[in-house]
Amino acid sequence: MTERDARPGRTVRKAVIPAAGQGTRFLPATKAMPKEMLPVVDTPAIQYIVEEAVRAGLTDVLMITGRNKRSLEDHFDRNVELEVGLEAKGDQAKLARVQESTDLGQVHYVRQGDPKGLGHAVAVAEQHVGDEPFVVLLGDDIVDPRDPLLDTMIKVREEHGGSVVAFMEVPRDQIHLYGCAVAEPTGQEDVVKVSGLVEKPKTEEAPSNLAIIGRYLLDPAVFAVLRETPPGKGGEIQLTDALQVLAQGEGPGYGVHGVVFRGRRYDTGDKLDYIKAVVRLASEREDIGGELRDWLAEYVRDMPAPGAAAQA
Ligand code: G1P
Repeated sequence: MTERDARPGRTVRKAVIPAAGQGTRFLPATKAMPKEMLPVVDTPAIQYIVEEAVRAGLTDVLMITGRNKRSLEDHFDRNVELEVGLEAKGDQAKLARVQESTDLGQVHYVRQGDPKGLGHAVAVAEQHVGDEPFVVLLGDDIVDPRDPLLDTMIKVREEHGGSVVAFMEVPRDQIHLYGCAVAEPTGQEDVVKVSGLVEKPKTEEAPSNLAIIGRYLLDPAVFAVLRETPPGKGGEIQLTDALQVLAQGEGPGYGVHGVVFRGRRYDTGDKLDYIKAVVRLASEREDIGGELRDWLAEYVRDMPAPGAAAQA
């Protein structure tokens, strides 16, 4: 290990954030606006993701975008007009909020072109990433800053090499929504060796209740595998299928470990989960949390029992 490698968080520098999806679950809100810009309290979902990457030392961020994603670039760029206005008013607090997203790190953009699935989005990153390990963060999962997951994943890669995937245990009836793993314990708490992966299996065929959540630390060996990966589930090129090859084959950069995450995660991928995420995060905020919790308690107390409204 070189001196640079020995510093945790510095062996991996690059983050890739696929953000080309159309966000059809949130129509009409996403007709003219990317779903990544939906506010979670007062911050666009995508900013939480970039902040998480930067906290883990990944200061080189590549976003894979598509049509209708211009506002993502604007969000991470300076807005001089707004800054000058706030400066003139002496509103330092708001000025700081505006500058936060600009000061995070270097954000680069590449378009996916014809979106052919998550595996395809990752393959598009090859030219930027080159021959380095990199982290993929999916925008639908927000990981609480108090439960650092990427740091653990980076340590596992430093120890075992290859790629590292984040899992969580889900109820069996939900596993069909996720990539699912066959994995064996390693003797290290919450670190598993992955021997197989299957994308969104039927409940009765699922080999476990270990679900892939949207954090991957990938060895660059994944790129050669992705080039050979045929369309899978849903006719899309699946990252899970490429990881299955890396888990089962042998070669430089092969091998997959998993970190079972037991911390706080907020799903913003569909309407109900999104609303839950906003309420949970807002109720922990210093500025509005106290009032919101009081109001929520009152609201729930006064809420009619299920079915009561229909009978009235
Ligand atoms: C993707 C992956 C899936 C993973 C999930 C995590 O699916 O293909 O393996 O479990 O993200 O959020 P998507 O949710 O994009 O359909």
